[in-house]
Formats: sequence, C-alpha cells, structure tokens
Amino acid sequence: MASHASFLASLVAIISAVCLGRAQAQPSFRPDGLVLPVRKDAATQQYVTVINQRTPSAAVRLVVHLGGQFLWVDCDANYVSSTYRPVRCRSAQCSLAGSAACGDCYDGPRPGCNNNTCGVFPDNPFITTSTSGELAQDAVAVPSTDGSNPGRLATVPQFIFSCAPTFLLRGLAAGATGLAGLGRARIGVPSLFSAAFSFRRKFAVCLSSSTSSDGVIFFGDGPYVFLPGIDVTPSLFTPLYINPVSTAGASTQGEPSTEYFIRINAIRINNKPISINTSLLTIDAAGDGGTKISTVNQYTLLETSIYTALTTAYIREAAAWNITRVAGVAPFDVCFSSANVGSTRVGPAVPSIDLVLQGQNSPVWTIFGSNSMVAVNDDVLCLGFLDGGSNPRTAIVIGAFQFENNLLQFDLAASRLGFTSTLFFRQTTCANFNFTSNV
Ligand SMILES: *[C@@H]1O[C@H](CO)[C@@H](O)[C@H](O)[C@H]1NC(C)=O
Ligand SMILES: *[C@@H]1O[C@H](CO)[C@@H](O)[C@H](O)[C@H]1NC(C)=O
Ligand SMILES: *[C@@H]1O[C@H](CO)[C@@H](O)[C@H](O)[C@H]1NC(C)=O
Ligand SMILES: *[C@@H]1O[C@H](CO)[C@@H](O)[C@H](O)[C@H]1NC(C)=O
Repeated sequence: MASHASFLASLVAIISAVCLGRAQAQPSFRPDGLVLPVRKDAATQQYVTVINQRTPSAAVRLVVHLGGQFLWVDCDANYVSSTYRPVRCRSAQCSLAGSAACGDCYDGPRPGCNNNTCGVFPDNPFITTSTSGELAQDAVAVPSTDGSNPGRLATVPQFIFSCAPTFLLRGLAAGATGLAGLGRARIGVPSLFSAAFSFRRKFAVCLSSSTSSDGVIFFGDGPYVFLPGIDVTPSLFTPLYINPVSTAGASTQGEPSTEYFIRINAIRINNKPISINTSLLTIDAAGDGGTKISTVNQYTLLETSIYTALTTAYIREAAAWNITRVAGVAPFDVCFSSANVGSTRVGPAVPSIDLVLQGQNSPVWTIFGSNSMVAVNDDVLCLGFLDGGSNPRTAIVIGAFQFENNLLQFDLAASRLGFTSTLFFRQTTCANFNFTSNV
C-alpha cells in the first residue's frame, strides 16, 4: 500500500518533470544571452526594467530587486492574457518554487484568483510588506543579445511568476506594476531564463547613475560590450556566500536567503586599513552578519562600529588633503565643501575606499569619488554611506549608488561574483550599451 502510493507519487513527479521539461524546451529560438534596459527612477531612486509579458503582449515595468526571490506582478488590475495559467498545488513548478502551500479563491476565476493553486509570498522590501500570492505561468519575451546589441525577441512560453494584490505596489516607482526578483532561487528570473534557453546560470548588472539613460542587465555569459566597442567582462572574482537564513519578508523555516552575500575581509581608506570587529564580517548560524549587495538600498549601510571607524578615518584623510568638512545634509552626516576638491576621470578627487574581499590574492574593489561622493548641491559633497544601526541583521549592505557604472556579474553556477570597479577607468559607462537592435 505504502509502496504503491509512493510509486504513484514518483510517477506523478516524473510525468510532471517531463511536462515541465517539455514546456521549457519550446522557446522560440535559442539565444546565447538576453538583455534588458534598466533606468533609475528620479523620484524613488529605484531601478526599473521592462519586460513583455502575456498574450497579447504587454510591456510591464518592474522594479529590480537584485536578491528578490521571483518575479511578481499586480494581477488584480488590468491583467488580460489568453495564456495565463495558475500553477497547481503539488505540481513540479510548485516544488521548484519550494512551496508546500495550496490555496483556494472564491472570487474568481481570474488571474490571481483560482482554486487549487500553489501559494507563495510576494515581498515588497521597499515597504517591508509581504502577502500571499498565486503562483502562475505566462509568456514572457525579452530581447536576445550577442553582447553588443539587442537582437530578436526570445520567448519563454510559460515563465513562472507570482500574482500579487494591487496594494503591494505601494512604495514602488510610478508606473511599475511589480518587481523583478533576480535572486538565487530556482524560480528567480536568472535561473528561469537559464533553464529555458540552456545557458549558464549567470547574469550581469550595470546600473547607470543617470535618470535619463538606460543601464543594462545581461542574462547569460559575456561578452558585455559597451560603446565604443569595449568588452567589460570582469577579471576580478570573489566567492558568493549563501546565508542559511532567509532575509525575505516571509519565509518557511530552513529556507536560505536568495540574496547575494560576499565576504569583506578588510576596509582601507587611502590604502590604510581601518579597525573592524571581524566577527561582524561573517554570517553566523542565525544568519546575522556578513555583507550583501542590494538594489533596495541606495546608499551603503554600515553597522554602527564599522560606520564610526570608516567615517573617522575618512574625515582624517580628507583633512590631510585640505578638504574642509561642513555640516551634514540629511541623510548624510559626513559632508565636505567641494571648494578644494579637484575632479578626475573617476569623479571628485577624494580619498579612496578599498573593500578587500575574500578570494585568491585578496581581490580589491576600490570605490572612487564617483561612487563615494553624493553632490547634494554645487558646493557640498557628502560621503554616501549611512549608519545601519548597532544591531542590524546584515552588518554591511552595499547599496546601488556604490556600484553604479560598475559591472557586477553574478555566476550562480560557480557561486562567485565578478566585478570591474568603475568603468570610468575603461573610458565607458553603464549608459553606453548600444540599444539599437541589430536585426
Ligand atoms: C472554488 O471552489 C469553490 C467551492 O467549490 C467555489 O465556490 C468557487 O467558485 C471556486 N472558485 C474559483 C475561482 O473557481
Ligand atoms: C564583535 O561583534 C560581535 C557580534 O556582533 C559581538 O558579539 C562582540 O561583542 C563584538 N566584539 C567587540 C570587541 O566589540
Ligand atoms: C594643505 O594646506 C597646507 C597649508 O595651506 C599646505 O601647506 C599643504 O601643502 C596642503 N596640502 C595639500 C595636500 O594640498
Ligand atoms: C549601434 O548599433 C547599430 C546596429 O548594429 C549600428 O548601426 C550603430 O552604428 C551602432 N552605434 C554606434 C554609435 O556605434
């Protein structure tokens, strides 16, 4: 009896796996990589991308959440599609999502409201709110790329995402109707694209500092070519770490975080190490400590003792360069007169900040003026780092301002991050991808 039941269960699992495999093996054609534009929203400083979803196809604007678990969209308003399919309870897609939840809905059927559907927890980290949502599939189309230009649209007929109610859009950039989770979950956007087109589980993010031109997100391997013909594929690498404890708004016990953690071993200001309580730099068994990279925070957050050590050293080094400290301008405490500050190819001529990372030969991510100084007005530059409090979950959260005009490549298969430091040294920027189609 027991063996009969488990035989049936495994048969169902095999059939579902075959069906899932077939569904994912019917893309329109097989590109080597995909490319999406991403633009900073002036009002919220969030980074917004656009994909084509549904039948007939609609352009859907999504806020990028680097460590987010999956893609979710508002299905309550204006979701019209002939190819929408809810994901059933106990299906292969539901187990890919790591979900054991099963839901009914009495007010449908319609997208986001069906019986016997797999339940997940869409999360809006900008307002720290999560809710329950119906897991679903629908067609998604994005441009392929050869690394230099966008090409033909590549379609995934049954891309997995979650529906969310309209209220979850609160706090998102105007016009955005959901969130693109680029985290390391099996149903994260990078893993779904890789599975659909059989390319390596890799993606790269290059955010522009401009609110009027597009940066770029690549899925798949390089080259990553920016005008005038410069391949910025990274040559420095550091391991990615898995935080064993979820950092999402809602999670089940034992679920690891889908965010991207790295290990900073030391921080130097103008080449001089600052003193840090090193136990903050590793992730402990409770999931606390360590360093993550986030597009939810605009500016890097440092645990209070690290913040104090960094800003003290920075103020001292700046004084030695005759850079005058002035009153803080919220949210920044550490600001300087721009009067004595020269300008260079890599931004204001200010003391450099080195993040000394884990890995072979201790790779160094150097932050120059363009990624450390925020020009709050014509006369004042502020150090773009904030005090994250004395007992934060994660000791260091590297915010998006610190990696604008840097290319970061997340290799999920090899569990490593490739990074370039500022592209200004390479005579290009993240706004220099040639978005003119070459087909
Ligand atoms: C779900 O099932 C219940 C009970 O059979 C039914 O009343 C309801 O209309 C169904 N809802 C949907 C969305 O099909
Ligand atoms: C270093 O940080 C750990 C973890 O927060 C803390 O338990 C310990 O007391 C700190 N040590 C010092 C010397 O502050
Ligand atoms: C800073 O100012 C002092 C006094 O004006 C001057 O002697 C020194 O050379 C300056 N240092 C730098 C690095 O500009
Ligand atoms: C951008 O790409 C298009 C299509 O390949 C090409 O015609 C155009 O010359 C490129 N632009 C620049 C500035 O190189």
